[in-house]
This record gives sequence, structure tokens and C-alpha cells, in this order.
Amino acid sequence: MRVGVLASGTGTNLQALMDEVHGREGISIVAVGGENPSAFALERARMARIATSVFEEQEYMADRVARDLAMAQWLVSHGVELVVLAGYMRLLAPEFLARFRNRVINLHPALLPAFPGLSAIQQAIDYGVKVYGATVHFVDEGTDTGPVILQRAIPLPDGIDIYTAHALIRPIEHSLLCEAVRLIAAGNVAFDKDNPRATIVTPIESGAGR
Ligand code: GRF
Repeated sequence: MRVGVLASGTGTNLQALMDEVHGREGISIVAVGGENPSAFALERARMARIATSVFEEQEYMADRVARDLAMAQWLVSHGVELVVLAGYMRLLAPEFLARFRNRVINLHPALLPAFPGLSAIQQAIDYGVKVYGATVHFVDEGTDTGPVILQRAIPLPDGIDIYTAHALIRPIEHSLLCEAVRLIAAGNVAFDKDNPRATIVTPIESGAGR
């Protein structure tokens, strides 16, 4: 399975994918793109000799559809079959999603549907919840509203600061995202025919040989 990754920031999740899934189980990360030319994620990809491209907003005169279609076309030209949003901080235009129907996944640092959108961990701290977590979900036209693939919860200690909370969730994010990509590559993520919101995820061990 050929994977394209979109990232805007430091790219620790991209790094986890490159370290844990790239080149294994038939999975290759073939393209890494984004809107931010100074994202360290792009540098990580270059160091791994993966194709990169930056789609800067000003180049497209704030025409989000044109920019997203150019990005989609670039991913298609690399034969990308699954698009992974790994800290990609923009909403994708419906026109992009139409090119990759049910083939775009996102990682969100909250237990959706709680705390969608920006600053999810701060939202959880401000709300005073006792558990928080990470979600990998399919991307639809909404903000963090698509069908959930995997979630994992951890305690949110009382009085914790945002930096510590982020540090605690990072390894969870890395392992959840790698697991989701592996599951999709193995054909172990399906949609529930009775509930379009629900996915049916078969663990890789018990799915072997299907
Ligand atoms: C992660 O916390 C992810 O959940 C959020 O953006 C962050 C990206 O981190 N969407 P990194 O750039 O992968 O280190």
C-alpha cells in the first residue's frame, strides 16, 4: 500500500510511521506534503529520501480548492492509495476528499467526539476530564467528525500542565497511528453495513489468512 502523509509541524508521528511501518508488510510512504515550508516533518522525509512537496497558501491566492486539488493530483501522481494526516493543520476541501473517498485518515489528540478542533488537549484540561486519549478516524467533510478507527484512553492526572499532558499522549499517538495504517494495509478495517458511522476492525492476528 502506497501511503502519502500530510504534515504541518514537527513530524514525530511521521517519524513513527517511517520507523515502524515504512518498508514493512507491503507498506511504503511514498510522498510527504504540507502547506508549511518550514515544517520539520518535510525535513524528516527528505532525510529518508521520500518525495516532498510544499503547497503554500499564497501561491494559490487563498484558493483552497485549487491548492487542495493540486495536492491531490501530486499524491495521485505518486500512486498514493491512503492519505495520512499526521499533524496536518488545515481542513481538506471536499474536492480533495472526493479524490480519496474513505482513503484519508487523521490523528486527533482527544477521545472524539469530545474536544474536536484545535487545542484539544487544552480543551480536555480546561473541562476537567479525568481521562483523555487519541483517536484515529476517517476524514469526512466535517472537523474531526469521520468514523472512528481506533481510540486509546489514558488518565489525565489532576493539575497536569499542557506540556506534560502532550508528552504523555505522544507515544500513544505514535503507536495508534502505526497500528491503524497496518490494519488498513492488511484489509482489516471495514465499514459496518448497518451503521455508516461505525467501522469494524479485525485485529491483525485473527485476521491473518482471511
Ligand atoms: C499531534 O499531537 C496530533 O495529534 C495533532 O498534531 C500533533 C502533531 O505532532 N493533530 P507531530 O507533528 O506529529 O509531532
